[in-house]
Amino acid sequence: MGKGIRKAVFPAAGLGTRFLPATKASPKEMLPIVDKPLIQYGVEEAVDCGIDQFIIITGKNKRAIEDHFDTAAELEEKLRNGGKDEMLKEITRLNKIDFAYIRQRTALGLGHAIYCARPFVGNEAFAVILSDDVIDPDFKVLKEMVEVYEKVQSPVIAIQEVPKSETNRYGIIDGELQDGVIKIKGMVEKPDPKNAPSNLAIIGRYILTPDIFDVLEKQKPGKGGEIQLTDALISLMAKRPIYGYKIKGGRYDAGDKLGYLMATVDFALKNSELADPFREFLKARFSAK
Ligand code: UTP
Repeated sequence: MGKGIRKAVFPAAGLGTRFLPATKASPKEMLPIVDKPLIQYGVEEAVDCGIDQFIIITGKNKRAIEDHFDTAAELEEKLRNGGKDEMLKEITRLNKIDFAYIRQRTALGLGHAIYCARPFVGNEAFAVILSDDVIDPDFKVLKEMVEVYEKVQSPVIAIQEVPKSETNRYGIIDGELQDGVIKIKGMVEKPDPKNAPSNLAIIGRYILTPDIFDVLEKQKPGKGGEIQLTDALISLMAKRPIYGYKIKGGRYDAGDKLGYLMATVDFALKNSELADPFREFLKARFSAK
C-alpha cells in the first residue's frame, strides 16, 4: 500500500461557452446544484478520499471561487449571533482547507491548465477533478480510482459508456477489460461517431503521475487548437501503461444545460428538505400534461 494521493488539481479556467450567457462574467464552477456550487461537490469528493492539498487553476472572471472558499467573518458572526448553528456549520465546514490558486493567463486547453499546476504538484501522483462533471456523492468514484492507482501505480482515468452519437464530445478510448480495469490501448479526442474506436468516454476524474508534466511541457495544440490532455496521455502511453476505471453511474455533465438540469432534479429528489414537495410539484406538472 502506497501513501495514497494527497493533492488534487481543479482546472477551472475554461470559458464555459456552453453555458452562456450565465458564464459571461461568472465562473461556471460556481453554478449551484440545489444549494452548493459545482466546485464544492468536487472539493468534498476529494476531502472524502483523504486529499488535503487543493490547487485550483483559475482564469479571468473566476474571483468568486476564491471568495467562496475564504472565511466570511461578517456572515459567520451574524449566523452565530442569530443562533443559526446548522447554517454556520455548513458554511465553515471547509474553512480548515488551504487552497492554492494559479492563474492560467490564456485558456490554451485542459492540458495546459494542468501543466500550470506543476510547481505545486512536484514529484508525486495527483488527482485531477473537472468540477463541471458532477458525481453523485453516493458513488465513490474517486475513492475507487485511488484504490486502483494503489494497485497499478500508473495513471487511472475515469471512463463511462456514452451513446455512440455523442463520441464527438469526449476523449474516447480503445481498450481491454482486465480484472475490472481497462488496459487502455488507444485514445482519440472527440472523434466523429463514424471513426470512434468505442463508446467508452473519458470523464472528468483522473489520477495522474508526475511524468505527465514532461509530456505536457512539449505538447503541441491539437483538436480545436487547444493543448489537449488526451494527446499528452497518448504520448505517455508509449512509456507506461494507462488504465481506465469504468464508473458505475452517478455522473452528470453539468457544464451542459441539459446535464445541469438532470443533476438539479436528481439532487433535489435526494435532498431531505426538498424531496417531498419537489416530487409533488413534478407529479402535478406531469399529470397536467
Ligand atoms: P471544457 O471542455 O468543459 O471547456 O473544459 P470549458 O471552456 O470549461 O466549457 P465549454 O466547453 O466552452 O462550455 C474541461 C475542463 O477544463 C478546464 C475547464 O474549466 C473545465 O473544468 N479548462 C479548459 C481549463 O482550465 N483551461 C482551459 O484552457 C480549458
